[in-house]
Amino acid sequence: MDSVITLTVDGTRRRLTVDTRTTLLDALRERLGNTSPKKGCDHGQCGACTVLLEGRRVLACLTLAVAVDGAEVTTADGLATAAAPHPVQRAFLDHDAFQCGYCTPGQICSAVGMLAELAAGWPSHVTADITADIDTNTATEPVLSHAEIAERMAGNLCRCGAYANIVPAVEQAAAEPGTSR
Ligand code: FES
Ligand code: FES
Repeated sequence: MDSVITLTVDGTRRRLTVDTRTTLLDALRERLGNTSPKKGCDHGQCGACTVLLEGRRVLACLTLAVAVDGAEVTTADGLATAAAPHPVQRAFLDHDAFQCGYCTPGQICSAVGMLAELAAGWPSHVTADITADIDTNTATEPVLSHAEIAERMAGNLCRCGAYANIVPAVEQAAAEPGTSR
């Protein structure tokens, strides 16, 4: 069965007809020609397809396009402005945080989403105080340690093993204002 949906992708509103079984990843890549998100496993295991859906990171291969009708989708391509790359993109360049680059758009989207989660006070599995209430004055943003970055980025695999440079890149980006936009 087909369905007509509308998506705003990297700032551009697009209307398309999709089979209701079409994933967001296939809609972006095969229907809209946006090959920034990559298809690694197509099973939610590698993170290569990560995009931002209304600002939150999601796996596009596990998201049905019809389920996000009307949503705003940002890929790694859409994070840069005409004037400059996003701070996370610049940090990946500064730290050579890639080899083949196949996982990189997903890593970058995931890092942007993760830093927004951190700014909102979301704890991770390794956060020492997971009882902190972000609505109280005593709430503090979790410290972005190496362990926190590794845990929060654990869903994004890199077959080239560029983790040693990805972690410092995320640390650099986290220190810059405007990174979690
Ligand atoms: Fe989506 Fe691997 S392609 S998680
Ligand atoms: Fe090659 Fe990550 S840079 S898979």
